[in-house]
Amino acid sequence: MLTEINQTAEFLRSKVTGEMPKTAIILGTGLGSLVDFMEDKQYIPYSEIPNMPVSTVEGHSGNLIFGSLGGKRVIAMQGRFHYYEGYNMKQVTFPVRVFKALGVDTLFVSNASGGMNKEFKVGDVMVITDHINLFPENPLRGKNYNELGTRFPAMIDAYDPQLIELADKIAEEKGLRLMHGVYVGTTGPTFETPAEYEYFRIIGGDAVGMSTVPEVIVARHASMRVFGVSVITDLGGKDIKDVPSHEEVQQAAVKAQPTVVSLITEVVKRS
Ligand code: HPA
Repeated sequence: MLTEINQTAEFLRSKVTGEMPKTAIILGTGLGSLVDFMEDKQYIPYSEIPNMPVSTVEGHSGNLIFGSLGGKRVIAMQGRFHYYEGYNMKQVTFPVRVFKALGVDTLFVSNASGGMNKEFKVGDVMVITDHINLFPENPLRGKNYNELGTRFPAMIDAYDPQLIELADKIAEEKGLRLMHGVYVGTTGPTFETPAEYEYFRIIGGDAVGMSTVPEVIVARHASMRVFGVSVITDLGGKDIKDVPSHEEVQQAAVKAQPTVVSLITEVVKRS
């Protein structure tokens, strides 16, 4: 695995013009328009990158985009690898390991999720303050590479408290409604049954989605700072019978996009 990571990092170093970014951003469902706010963009399709899995789901195109956002050099990941697509955990988290090898020290992640918190409304943006890992497998299971991180990484403050504080400050300045909450990560691809949404709320979750947790675990293993936001695209609970569809999820995510884009741009700029 180390050989593959280094080979991919070496390839990107040889391709990328300009300074190597210290910030990476994983663009989740329907949040791709952040790219429109980037400057000096250099697209590198996943298909051209050695060892990179290829993205398959509708609405997710596969490119690494090097450029600047708010005057800061960033790598944006357009299209991520979901466990439900059949990728294994090593593949899902491979790009994060490559980012680390390139010198990235801060990871931004966005995703779409179903809200269980009764205060939440569709279209709300939630800063992820913590997560509950309900994937059947931990991406760090197996041989530990000490070069990448410690065998038993701590997961307290996995989501950087200073970046959360900064986001709150920015939201207040901009008058944005910004929720806080615990993200429950599950495999999908089924949305939850009403009883499952209820169960996830009772165990301490505010929103549930099918991504992010594996990447965050690997980023924390590599001692990266992490900041995550989740767009609440539907609501679930024992009395809620609305059926979320992939299209509705995309639409709600697109609607919340300006908020997420302006928030993330400003946090990136000031972090
Ligand atoms: N559940 C799981 N993942 C999701 C949801 C949901 O309700 N909405 C968007 N992603």
